[in-house]
Amino acid sequence: MPVTRAVIPAAGLSTRLYPMTKSQPKEMLPLGRKPAIHVVVEELIEAGIADICIITGRQQRAIEDHFDLGDDPNSNAANGDLFPPALREGRVHIYYVRQPEPKGLGNALLQAEGFVGGEPFVVALGDAVITGAGGEGGLVSRMEDVIDNTGCDAVLGVRHVPKSQISQYGIVKPFGSVEGKPHFMVEDVIEKPPPEEAPSDIAIAGRYIMRPIVFDYLKHVAPGPGGELQLTEALRRLVHDREAIWAAKMKPGERRFDVGNFLQYSRAFIQFSIDDPEVGLSVREYIEGLMHN
Ligand code: UTP
Repeated sequence: MPVTRAVIPAAGLSTRLYPMTKSQPKEMLPLGRKPAIHVVVEELIEAGIADICIITGRQQRAIEDHFDLGDDPNSNAANGDLFPPALREGRVHIYYVRQPEPKGLGNALLQAEGFVGGEPFVVALGDAVITGAGGEGGLVSRMEDVIDNTGCDAVLGVRHVPKSQISQYGIVKPFGSVEGKPHFMVEDVIEKPPPEEAPSDIAIAGRYIMRPIVFDYLKHVAPGPGGELQLTEALRRLVHDREAIWAAKMKPGERRFDVGNFLQYSRAFIQFSIDDPEVGLSVREYIEGLMHN
């Protein structure tokens, strides 16, 4: 059965990006011409998602304002024209659920339990943008095939990362070799391990498909550092108990951008600007000019 619901957690405090994010969420920071979360919503729509629940928190009304479809009195453009037709024409709906306190990604997801109902659902982190992955055959669609074909509890979108980045992500331990395999079974997941203790260089890429059993585990994990409820800890317990988590690898041409800290954000902004169909070439020339000065 196709997965039609997705949750975008976007209620973090974004403290690593202060002061840029003191009064707006990092998910609203622009990548080229669009806020990061706009690009995430486009990816989900291309993957066939019809109902999207965005988890928001304090200081985050900008997200709700952004996806309003009515015409903007301050602009000549009709707001609706800025969005994919499926959203404009009401075939895709966006809902908002509030996370009362920023108690971690796991706690944010618990707020969406009612929205999800009994079916498998996508989780797309609002600060993780993946390009080249939309549509049929894109990362989320391939993950959907894996959950359908294996009947597993969850599928993680993953990619290889350089050793220097291992400690920034949830890292996956596969069962056996993953060489040449587009998807594989997961033996363990470890949140932000030091590189020398990491079981692999395979990192979770901010895309998940999960069955609602994950909520049962989220309700029983103890809060981690800072009182935050970690999704990775719940997945870890789930995989230890049931050995039913798989991972699907990102393909060449699919690229992940992070809006988590300033260096990652700067890289992402520059890349999107260079890729802009109208001004991209000029931006590239400008950057090349800087290199030679
Ligand atoms: P992060 O841990 O990267 O976000 O969460 P953060 O807590 O905002 O970051 P810093 O450390 O303060 O800079 C990953 C994703 O989970 C969401 C974030 O919005 C982001 O999309 N999140 C995190 C929530 O929705 N609620 C939370 O309580 C925490």
